[in-house]
Amino acid sequence: MLADPREVLADAEKRNYAIAGINTPTFDAAVAVLEAAEELDWPVMIGLAEVHDVDASIDMLAPMLHDLAVRSKARVILHLDHGETMEYVMKAIRYGFTSIMYDCSHLPLDENAAKLKEFAEIAHKLNIIVEAEVGLMPSTIVSNSGGGEGGVSAEGDITQFFSDPAEVARFVDLSGVDMMAISFGNVHGDYVGEPKLDIPRLKRTHELTKCHLVMHGTTGVDDAQIRQAIDNGIRKFNYFTGVATAATRPVLNYITTAKNTVYVQEISHTARDAMKKEAMRVIQLFRNGA
Ligand code: 13P
Repeated sequence: MLADPREVLADAEKRNYAIAGINTPTFDAAVAVLEAAEELDWPVMIGLAEVHDVDASIDMLAPMLHDLAVRSKARVILHLDHGETMEYVMKAIRYGFTSIMYDCSHLPLDENAAKLKEFAEIAHKLNIIVEAEVGLMPSTIVSNSGGGEGGVSAEGDITQFFSDPAEVARFVDLSGVDMMAISFGNVHGDYVGEPKLDIPRLKRTHELTKCHLVMHGTTGVDDAQIRQAIDNGIRKFNYFTGVATAATRPVLNYITTAKNTVYVQEISHTARDAMKKEAMRVIQLFRNGA
């Protein structure tokens, strides 16, 4: 069923946990994550990002995701991750997404805030919650099919891209958004070296900011730092690479050890089982004992 995103996030704030925001740009990924949430009876956020359009368009995916979300026994928030153009964002609204990230983080802060304020006013009238980003998110995600995850290169000194706590708070006051993605050592895709989150920066941001905080680039971050991030204010983790790649080795193994001809639906089953297992692991971890 579609859940009320405000209720879910308010509960996460109150009981000190975070929800999993997992991009599911294929049928198997969506089924795997929803089955994981159903089995754990815990809310989850599924969806896609504009960069996934090279693999399957929102026109193909969104009706399927919406239908699966509505039919699911789990409480589901349907989220657009990194919506970059208004045309795409409007499509997500038309397809019934209940949560939208409008990513204008490449713009100077005041321009970014002005665009988000205008958008949040419309979205709130439609009961949609809005996520924005301040500070750039470094990235190493580039898939073989050409889809990349936005942002600047994750190599070199990434501290220059970190979000400033006071700026995040000012941004939220100006724009009225519901969730803020912040940069404090997190990187989309593979980490170059050991991930090291700037927890004092996160704590300060949480103290100053009147909205829910989001961490992107969660794949590759150890459990201890994840728990610290929750204890210092993260209420949603965007976790994509870990689930999307959990299927790779089991599928390879299945194909190379099969005694008979391999049908595509067998690959789907193998991929789904592996993605579900990984989704269950992170949903439980982010639940933080709640
Ligand atoms: P990872 O793929 O690194 O987990 O990041 C996902 C993400 O932040 C999507 O916005």
